[in-house]
Amino acid sequence: MKLLLFLLSTLCLCMQDSAVDDGPSFSFPEPNDYVIAGLCEENFGPNEKSGFFESPEYPEEYYAKEDCLFFFEAEEDEVIQITFDKLFNVEEDDNCQFDQVEIHDGRYGFSPLLARLCGTVAPDPVTSSTNFLWVGFFTDSDVEEEGFRAYYKYIPNPNLPVTKPPRADIDTPAIVGPEDCFFKLDENFDGEINSSSLINALIDQGRYPTSKVDCTWEINVPENYKILLEFQEFLLTYVNECQHNRIIVYDRYALDNRKVSEFCSTTAPPVMTKTNRAYLRFVATKAIGGNEWKLIYTAYRDKPCNTTLSFECGQHICIDHELRCNGRPNCWNYPSDEENCHANPPLLQGKIDAALGAVMTFILLLTFITIVLSCRHSWLRTKHKAREARLRRTVERSAVQYLMDTGEGPESSELATMSPPNFQRYKRPDAGLQSINYLPPEGACSSVPRSRNSEGSNLSPHMNDYLEQLMDRRSSTGQNISLFTWDTVDKPSASSSKNPKTVWNVFV
Ligand SMILES: *[C@@H]1O[C@H](CO)[C@@H](O)[C@H](O)[C@H]1NC(C)=O
Ligand SMILES: *[C@@H]1O[C@H](CO)[C@@H](O)[C@H](O)[C@H]1NC(C)=O
Repeated sequence: MKLLLFLLSTLCLCMQDSAVDDGPSFSFPEPNDYVIAGLCEENFGPNEKSGFFESPEYPEEYYAKEDCLFFFEAEEDEVIQITFDKLFNVEEDDNCQFDQVEIHDGRYGFSPLLARLCGTVAPDPVTSSTNFLWVGFFTDSDVEEEGFRAYYKYIPNPNLPVTKPPRADIDTPAIVGPEDCFFKLDENFDGEINSSSLINALIDQGRYPTSKVDCTWEINVPENYKILLEFQEFLLTYVNECQHNRIIVYDRYALDNRKVSEFCSTTAPPVMTKTNRAYLRFVATKAIGGNEWKLIYTAYRDKPCNTTLSFECGQHICIDHELRCNGRPNCWNYPSDEENCHANPPLLQGKIDAALGAVMTFILLLTFITIVLSCRHSWLRTKHKAREARLRRTVERSAVQYLMDTGEGPESSELATMSPPNFQRYKRPDAGLQSINYLPPEGACSSVPRSRNSEGSNLSPHMNDYLEQLMDRRSSTGQNISLFTWDTVDKPSASSSKNPKTVWNVFV
């Protein structure tokens, strides 16, 4: 029978291993198959320096199908020594695969195995290497013997002082855990565990940054409940590289050969335990920061639900009624316990909504007005510029026309006879001049030096065209060319030159 079970469990493990890509598929545990953690269990704390522990009914026969756990926690500078009584009888087998005493060197069932004991000869004393020790006593369905009794004693750690690895050293990060990265969550109907709260805890303890962690949460829910673990986020840095990061779920035994689930891929389906205790273990060896996961655990019972105590979640499970509308979806995949929680939204919520709405409207309005104003501003500027350009062109055109007119006329001939730098002063045309019919007053001549401005910097391309035309016309007749310059003050001037190319400076 035990052999069959062993084969079956091996087969299961193999199947789990091969299915690691998508995580093991989900299935409900048998209804009403509860294993109560603590039924056969003893805890020895740091103050209980020595004592005895034994198999049930020792030295009478122990029970069939019994699982007993013994936890030891000494002071940090102590280790734990166990000495067995002479009368020792646990069903004999070469591999101790039927009944056995299993001793692990640490806080958990998954801590390194120190000894697996059976037979009729009292084993040698066993000493832990840390201040934690885990002892399990497991029996199968037949052949019961007297069992064992052992004396335990906390003794000073002979290897002290242990040089503690430097903390928060990113270059040579010490592994955080497993013994000293432990969180105990007790007796609640639900709760949340996530990677960010782990990082916060490590920061608080001065142990972050680190890239190597082996952290464990012990989840305890009330008796006669089982545990549903449901991931809401699951993102590991190294996908499918289980050796670098993984999340393992154990039941109350936390034994590596009794894992409930192990995830190191892209998904983590829900997990249900048969016990009211579960261990969640997160291992990362290369990086911790990129792992983002978050889960909700829920205490549940099988149907039928006691409707005065429970809320019925879908087809299979009942959860405590206090979990309804508590902000955490506890029901996995089913009409949620978080639905219809605010049938009548509280007045305050309405007010908050209204206030938010008003603020949003105000902001929108402000944005709109700003846009309109800035559009209008740039439109006005464009318009203003266009008007200025138009005005300038008009004046320029008028000036050129004047040049052309006077160039044809007798005044021009008079001008042509003057030699530079003689200039004639004319009345400056109005800036807003519309008419082209203006003429220089007679005899207004002066020797104002040519151009206080230079190189025609104010000349528009438009004006250039006019002047080019004019030049062509004048050059063909071989005449000297006169140039009229209005400066920006009240001093219009005219100049003439034999070399038109260098003289054509017009300022409006
Ligand atoms: C992580 O879990 C804690 C409770 O353990 C909770 O207070 C916190 O809001 C959670 N953080 C995120 C990001 O979900
Ligand atoms: C439901 O729980 C209450 C409180 O424990 C108990 O009195 C009642 O008998 C239970 N009902 C059923 C149907 O089990």
